[in-house]
Order: sequence, then C-alpha cells, then structure tokens
Amino acid sequence: MKIAPSILNADYLNLGKAIKTVEQAGADLLHIDIMDGHFVPNLSFSSALVKAAKEITTLPLDVHLMVANPASCIEDFAQNGADTLLVHAETDPHLYRVIQQIQALHVQAGIVINPGTPLSAISEYLPIVDQVLVMTVNPGFGGQHFLKNTLTKVQSLAQLRNEHNWHYNIEVDGGINEQTAPLAQQAGADIAVAGSYLFSSTEIASRIQLLKTCGTA
Ligand code: DX5
Ligand code: ZN
Repeated sequence: MKIAPSILNADYLNLGKAIKTVEQAGADLLHIDIMDGHFVPNLSFSSALVKAAKEITTLPLDVHLMVANPASCIEDFAQNGADTLLVHAETDPHLYRVIQQIQALHVQAGIVINPGTPLSAISEYLPIVDQVLVMTVNPGFGGQHFLKNTLTKVQSLAQLRNEHNWHYNIEVDGGINEQTAPLAQQAGADIAVAGSYLFSSTEIASRIQLLKTCGTA
C-alpha cells in the first residue's frame, strides 16, 4: 500500500523538515489538508503551503479540499502545484463539472466521501475519477479513531473497479496506524493517509515502512 503522510499534525515551525523527513523515509505522496472553517469546523492551510511544498519536494501533492465551494479554488491549487485535487461529494451538486474542470487543468481528480455518505452518492462519478477517498474518520481533525464500518465502502469500490475496469485509486484517510492499515489494505485500499501516527513519533521512517508493508505478509 502507498503511504501519504498528512502534515496536519506535523510541527508547524519545522514543516519543511517534516516534508523532507517523510520523503527520505519512503513516503509515496504528500497529503495536504485544506480546511475552510465552513465545511469542517477547523482552519488549516492555503495554496501558499502547496506552492512552498512544491519547491522542496518531488513527492506528488495530494490536496484534500475540505472546503464548502471547491470550484472557486481549484484553479488556484492547480497553479500552485497540486498533483491531485480531492473534492468532497457533500459540497456541490455540480461535481461532475468540477471533476472535468480539474482534469482539464491536467490535475488528477479525486472524489471524497464522509463516513455518513453512501457509495450511491458518487456512483455516477466512478467511471471518470482518478481517485476515490473514503474518509475513515469524520473530517476536520487529526488524531481521531478509525471507523471500521467505512471499510465496506472500500471493499465495494475495489469490486466495482474490477467489474467495470475503472481506473481510480482507492485511498483511506483518518485513524491509520499499524492496527488499522492492514484492515484497509485487505479491504482493497491502494493509498493510506497517515498523520498523527507518524508525527507523534520520533520513529517516522520505520513507521512509514511498517505501514507500507503491513497487511501484505
Ligand atoms: C482529517 C484529515 C486527515 C488527518 C488524518 O480531516 O483529512 O488527513 O490529517 O490524521 P490522522 O492520521 O491523525 O487521523
Ligand atoms: Zn485528509
């Protein structure tokens, strides 16, 4: 499984160092959480951080837009170096258009579903999206407990992709650690986001390696 460290819970006074650390430790992507204080009850980063990260890392930037009106900012994030833009299914009735707009900017388009959102809400997007992110916690904060029942959606996504020959990557986000990563991997996830599990430790490199390989043994 690929690992996408989330810097939401990294040391904000040393973000550059945190990014270099995860890059050297074998991370596959860098996950950047954007929160607007409306869609989720928290504020985090802007496109300025995406731009700054782009200057110091070659890791693909996996940008998770937890914002109420994603259409208004996709161009800004694309111009500042996002490689994947992930928009929430709960935010906009015109997401089919938003996905097309993201792809027209030569950026990978991903759709995100909250724990309370059924897979049926995104079924029409599945043939066209590059990534599907299943939230395994309620979005807004790092350090929450993994919600196991979300894994049935991961299993269904893997099965549907197989049946229809669709191309999206399946990603999980929230509460990932050495116990939950194997469950996600076995359910069919290709990418796991991990925040506090990595950044609460001094053993970031070995934890990334553990997450990458656990579940495959
Ligand atoms: C939560 C964010 C996550 C968060 C994950 O809203 O989308 O990316 O940083 O943090 P952990 O791994 O601590 O649950
Ligand atoms: Zn996230």
